[in-house]
Amino acid sequence: FNFAHPANEPVMSFAPGSPERDALKKQLAAFKATEQDIPMYIGGKEVRTGKTVDIRPPHEIKHKLGHFHAGDASHVTDAINAALAARQQWADTPWEHRAAIFLKAAELLATKYRAHTNAATMLGQSKNAYQAEIDSACELIDFLRFNVHYLTEIYRQQPISSPGVHNRLEYRPLEGFVLAVTPFNFSAIGGNLPTSAAMCGNVVVWKPANTQVFHASFFMKVLMEAGLPDGVINLVYASGPTIGDVCFAHPDFAGIHFTGSTGVFQTMWKTIGNNIARYKTYPRIVGETGGKDFVIAHKSADVDTVVTALARGAFEYQGQKCSAASRAYLPSNIAEEIKTKLTAALKSMKMGTTEDFSNFINAVIDEKSFDKIASYIDNAKKDPSAKIIAGGNYNKSEGYFIEPTVIETTDPKYITMCEEIFGPVLSIYVYDAEKFEETLEVVDSTSTYALTGAVLGQDRYALELATTKLRNAAGNFYINDKPTGAVVGQQPFGGARASGTNDKAGSQLNLYRWLSARTVKETL
Ligand code: ALA
Repeated sequence: FNFAHPANEPVMSFAPGSPERDALKKQLAAFKATEQDIPMYIGGKEVRTGKTVDIRPPHEIKHKLGHFHAGDASHVTDAINAALAARQQWADTPWEHRAAIFLKAAELLATKYRAHTNAATMLGQSKNAYQAEIDSACELIDFLRFNVHYLTEIYRQQPISSPGVHNRLEYRPLEGFVLAVTPFNFSAIGGNLPTSAAMCGNVVVWKPANTQVFHASFFMKVLMEAGLPDGVINLVYASGPTIGDVCFAHPDFAGIHFTGSTGVFQTMWKTIGNNIARYKTYPRIVGETGGKDFVIAHKSADVDTVVTALARGAFEYQGQKCSAASRAYLPSNIAEEIKTKLTAALKSMKMGTTEDFSNFINAVIDEKSFDKIASYIDNAKKDPSAKIIAGGNYNKSEGYFIEPTVIETTDPKYITMCEEIFGPVLSIYVYDAEKFEETLEVVDSTSTYALTGAVLGQDRYALELATTKLRNAAGNFYINDKPTGAVVGQQPFGGARASGTNDKAGSQLNLYRWLSARTVKETL
């Protein structure tokens, strides 16, 4: 690894007969053969409570992968105490030594445990092999390596000195502990939120979504094998409210690194606000909180490019990406051709388990998600302003399967054009091809979220107009591409408005939030 010129981890193809495909198949079988007993990790120790929660693949709910041991408020307190006990020594550990641990973890994922990280994500979160590889292998490895690179650059940034005066900046960690709360949909985010704060010298309490525990516990073991000292990151599985009650009432609470829903983030922010006088220092509040991401095609757009952007942008990983295309604005001159080709593309996508590598679509994460997504589809079946033009069927007898569904509406404010669904549902609105500028205004005014968005077209003036008019409607804006798949080091990721604090993941902008600088002036 070259600190000065880091490179992205190459994506493996899993072609039939390739060694990586064989290794992955073997690991999938191994994980399925034995039920895993998954403890919490507090102060470097495995903690089992006997209060267990089953883990099942979302695409095969009759199979038990294992169970995890759930904790209560006392375990959250133990995790905070373990973190605070580890704090001083970790903060005093020279950067080169901290960096080596995270680079080693990246190396272990890239080589020894590549099949494990992918198999855990495929089974626990129902991602196909390719979606698992770009997430739990490449993106997670990239987060670790690039953050080491960015932090090395930050530490180098120093003020000027003058004759007789020596000035320096000391990039201290925050004074207290950081809480990382991570979602199910990216193993890479699960790994990045605790490690980016820890890398900066902070100690962390990490609460993953229940539906991510299978991968999170595996990654925790990788960090420990890489030499992470006891107590630097503590993995606990308590309920959200329990975590909040204990962590936000603690005087040493120093920050939260969150990815999840807007509603939960706002509740947390209010609680932190109510408790503000208790804390030693103002906590850093960093959150990425969903999206309702748009694709707008101009009348000059290439039809096949639009179809690919929609098919991949809306339906990869069953649309469960905060960046997923979920509302499309198509110009009347090419809308019919796009719809015909898109519908044909969706028919060719096979749906089923992740263990069968020919399936493009797998299951949505759990029953609650399934029911919520199905209710939007049912609503569209009844509403006169909406029409289902592809998919629309769902079934949860074996797993939480929902067909890739396209809803066409004549109302740009129809519920599925505005609310985050987090599933394989794309809504389409056809606009008068001569009214591009007016439609940009509609897109902007309905963007309560502002995470990602895309414009497609060949006309450079139209692309420029969209880029300018939609300046605040997306934190990641794509021209002639799908709005998903940001690569660490290439497209720093995050959005504003209801999508979060826009502290771009995988960039220096994020790492600054976990540092509290001290200026030291010495007169010589
Ligand atoms: N970073 C992920 C993407 O861009 C969410 O799709």
